[in-house]
Formats: sequence, structure tokens, C-alpha cells
Amino acid sequence: MAGGAASPLAPLLALVGLVLCCFAASSDAELPRLAHPAKPDGSLSLLVVGDWGRKGGYNQTDVAVQMGRIGEELDIDFVISTGDNFYDNGLTGVDDKAFEDSFTKIYTAKSLQKPWYTLLGNHDYRGDAVAQLSPALRAIDRRWICMRSFLLDAEVAQFFFVDTTPFVHSYWTNPEDHHYDWRGVAPRERYVSALLKELDAALRASPARWKFVVGHHGIRSVSIHGDTKELVDLLLPLLRSNGVDLYINGHDHCLEHISSNDSPIQFLTSGGGSKAWRGVFIPNSDKLQFFHDGQGFMSMQVREGRVEVAFYDVRGGVLHRWSSAKELHPSLSDLIVKLVGATPVGGGFFPLFSPMWGLWTSAMLVVMLHVYTIIVCTSSDHLVCCTSELPPLLQSGLPQQSSVLFQASSRLVLVRYGPNIIP
Ligand SMILES: *[C@@H]1O[C@H](CO)[C@@H](O)[C@H](O)[C@H]1NC(C)=O
Repeated sequence: MAGGAASPLAPLLALVGLVLCCFAASSDAELPRLAHPAKPDGSLSLLVVGDWGRKGGYNQTDVAVQMGRIGEELDIDFVISTGDNFYDNGLTGVDDKAFEDSFTKIYTAKSLQKPWYTLLGNHDYRGDAVAQLSPALRAIDRRWICMRSFLLDAEVAQFFFVDTTPFVHSYWTNPEDHHYDWRGVAPRERYVSALLKELDAALRASPARWKFVVGHHGIRSVSIHGDTKELVDLLLPLLRSNGVDLYINGHDHCLEHISSNDSPIQFLTSGGGSKAWRGVFIPNSDKLQFFHDGQGFMSMQVREGRVEVAFYDVRGGVLHRWSSAKELHPSLSDLIVKLVGATPVGGGFFPLFSPMWGLWTSAMLVVMLHVYTIIVCTSSDHLVCCTSELPPLLQSGLPQQSSVLFQASSRLVLVRYGPNIIP
């Protein structure tokens, strides 16, 4: 009966949905949002490749074969492309055969028949950039999901894709003999500042355990392009202030892992999809963990308490591994002892409205002491303390690098963990 009653309403509801959707899409106040569910056990596996589309040339096919093999082994959920999808000058239009010759006919392995969340690189902007964003390509190959900037919510982690090409001044002021397709982007200042505002808001509102930002250009790189100054100046401060764990990019045709010296951020370059071997090495002031000046790709395995990254060469051999744990619970007691000098006596999980994020966050652990209530948000790195006596204690008792983010009243303080408190 309910089904029969609902059916006449269905077209109307669909229309309302469509109108709401268009309204949301036309507003420039929010990053477009996509969702990709994690596996039933809450984990996520994926591959990252960049700088690839050369119709199989320069070992693109060899890298693709190894991606297929590792993709199968890790049972990947999706692939991320960090841009420079089609060389030398992007696509000429939606009917450019390079789309199939460099993508569909190359990444043929069964494990790679998953969504490809894709960004534009500077070479893509030298062709018909708008074509790569067109749903017409999805009709040719349904894996293709290419947008300028967007938020991919994959439950255990959120990925923030940032269109970095428009940041770079020289493409605007000194394009040499290249033509950049700035339709929908110019003027630069307005585009970049609106994008940074949207990104900051999305990062701040994110309740995700892990926050990963993906761009085409590197923030830090030891290869030929080096650091991207515009991103160091404009993007890096946002990553720092919002507790971003990883910045992932392509652009330099190599594999790199660099650790920031003054924040927990790791810089990961996966730009080895085809042509490589530039033969350039320019060290910078951050800590270089790994550099491979050749072809390859990267994998990521993400769980609630742990992220694991691996880099592979053109033959699929592992060159470098790195992992990071974020287990709140074991060290929580230590933190509380440091804060209030007393051992916690109990805890539990329940949903809580967060005044700072303006939304309900999921699991929170509450530790009841006889005087203090300490609420720890387990889905991000924030700690809320409710007590009238905590502020002086916070000043003296908080470990270094922690800071008070928000003080609603003398009874509610939101504190951010310092980077080294939770191992
Ligand atoms: C392709 O990879 C092989 C190793 O498998 C290497 O010897 C060769 O130089 C690579 N070719 C290019 C063009 O990079």
C-alpha cells in the first residue's frame, strides 16, 4: 500500500531532489562532495598514480600491469590520479581518442576496474580542460571521475582534492608557447581565494579520523620542479592548522616521501606513471625519507588507527614503506594524568554535538573523574574538557604543542592535541 501511495509522488520528489542538487552545485560556498564506502571491516585500500597518459609509452603499460597485480593483492577500492592525465596537451575534446588509448586500453586489469578519482594537472589545462570534467567521458569509461576540487568521503578517511594548477603564477603571466584553458577559473585571485575558503571550511568541519589532501603540484619536492612556492605560502598553512595527515601529489615524475620538520604532515609524490628519470636532485630543508627518480606508483591501506603507504617501481617491487598509527586509547590515560594529575575512572561512547564544527560527531569517549569530565573525540584529534577548574590546569598541565582551539565558556574548552602526543 505504501509503495502504491508513494509512486505518484516519485517524479515530484525526484524533481525536488534535482533542484536541491543543482542549487547546491551552483553555490560556490562548498566543495562538491562524493562518497565512497569503506570495506565492511572499516578499512580502505587504494592506489595512487600520476603523470601517465602516453598511449602506453615510456613504460606506462609496465606500470599499469604492476598496478593491476598489486591492486588485486590489496583488493583495492579505488584509484587516485594526481593529474597530468593526457600528454602533452590534455585532450582536444570529449571525442579525443587519447582518452581510450591512454586510459581505457592501458589500465585493463580486473582490479583496476574501480572508480578513478582524478584531478587535472598543468598539462591537462593545456588542452580542453573542460572536456576532462565532462560526463561524456564517463559514458565511454564509467571509471572516470574527474573534477577540479572536491571532497571524497571514504568513511575511515576523507580525501580533499585541490585544483593546484591555477595557483601557479607563471602559467598565467609567462605561458611561453602554451595555451591554458582557464574557462571557469579566471580571474586567478578570485578562484584561488574562494577555493582556499571552501577547503578551509571543509577541513574544519571534517570529523574524519584521517585527512588527506591531494593536489597535482608538490608542496615539497627534491626533483626538477622543486617546491611550489604558491602552495607553500597559501595551501600549507591550511593543512597545518587543520591537522591534515598527508599531502599527496604528482607533477614531478618520480616517487618521493618527505617529512615536514615542523608539523606531522608527510609529503608523498606519486608522479611516476610513465616518462621519468629526470636526473635532478635538489634537497630542501624538510626531511627526505625516500626518493626514486623513476617510474612507479603508490598504495595506501587505511584503517581507523593506522595508515600504511608503500611505493613500487616499474617491476612492482616495493621500494619504500611508511606507516603511522593514531591509537587514542592506550595513551589517553597518560594524557589525563598529565592534565589533571588523576587516573581516569571510567569511559564510554556516545554522540555529541560539537559547537565548533556545528555538527554531530560520532564516537566520543567520556572519562568521568570526581571533579572533571573529559570528553575525547575519537574521530578527530580534538579533546573537549568540561570543568570550571581546567583552564589554569590547561596552561600548566598540557603537553607542549597542544593549544586551546576554542573556549565556549569557562566550563567548555576544546583542545587540540600536539602532533607527538598520540604516537
Ligand atoms: C622501462 O623500464 C625498464 C626496466 O624494466 C628500464 O630498463 C627502462 O629504462 C625503462 N624505460 C624508460 C623509457 O624509462
